[in-house]
Amino acid sequence: MKVLLTRPLHDFAVKELEKRYDVEVHTGKIPMPKDLLISKIKDVDGLICYPYDDIDKDVIDLAPKLKAISTYSVGYDHVDAKYATKKGIVVSYTPEVLTRATADLTMALLLAVFRRIGEGDRLIRKNKWKAIFGPYEFLGTDLYGKTMGIFGMGRIGKAVAKRVRGFEMNIIYHNRKKLSAKEEKSLGVRYCTLDELFRKSDVVSIHAPHTIETNEIVNLKLFKKMKKTAFLVNTARGKIINEKDLVFALKKKMIGGAGLDVFSKEPISANHPFAKIENVVIMPHSGSSTVETRKEMAETCVKNLILSLSGKKPIYQVKIYR
Ligand code: DGY
Repeated sequence: MKVLLTRPLHDFAVKELEKRYDVEVHTGKIPMPKDLLISKIKDVDGLICYPYDDIDKDVIDLAPKLKAISTYSVGYDHVDAKYATKKGIVVSYTPEVLTRATADLTMALLLAVFRRIGEGDRLIRKNKWKAIFGPYEFLGTDLYGKTMGIFGMGRIGKAVAKRVRGFEMNIIYHNRKKLSAKEEKSLGVRYCTLDELFRKSDVVSIHAPHTIETNEIVNLKLFKKMKKTAFLVNTARGKIINEKDLVFALKKKMIGGAGLDVFSKEPISANHPFAKIENVVIMPHSGSSTVETRKEMAETCVKNLILSLSGKKPIYQVKIYR
């Protein structure tokens, strides 16, 4: 069987695949140009892809032999999983292994916006550290006693809640489905509407998947409801936010700032409006970027593909609800 990787993966992972299949690793331009992907896909039985590949109906229709798509990510909004599943292709992904790393980065962004880490770092590098330590100079915000609003209470949302409790914050959440009373109690969280979440929170953190329903769901309507001092953190997907509205809200000081790891079109450049707003902390989509996590993702991704290609259930198969 033939397996295509749209970009290099760890050596150990590629070797594991080479023991079983005829493997081709795309080593050129990243993301793999769509016309190149289309020209290769017709002979491929198994595909390993990444969040920047667009595995849409066109690609799937041009792949008569394709039996399995394994994405090296927890997000799978770049794969038309519904269509692929309908065509009998098993789609798998890598949740769980990246939960902790992504929750940790969320905490890093949360602390960075509350305590102005990016601004402080830039201030010193620009040699502007002068009369500080005064009653009004370079003040951040306490986390203690503030309200954290978690939008999306899946694996990552819950891991964030556990960490946030350590900072003695109150936690409210909004999710498609309310958690059981027992789980709410053990996490110390309270369910509310999306509207209340944005009105009451001192920081809203997004952990929902990007779907048709959540596309740009976070927009000016909600920014208008936020406290002027409140922050927005996003380590999920950029397209959940209407970025033009967010830039407007930040520039008009409708909200206090933002910590962003994801953007609607990546990568962004130094000319992006977010890069020019002081109270925005930006990261290059690094939620799962730790040595340990990326390795575990590779292991899971390869196992998913091998299981799927041998007719077994992968560890994590994408479930289609609609
Ligand atoms: C994922 O796996 O979807 C993450 O966004 C990568 O960091």
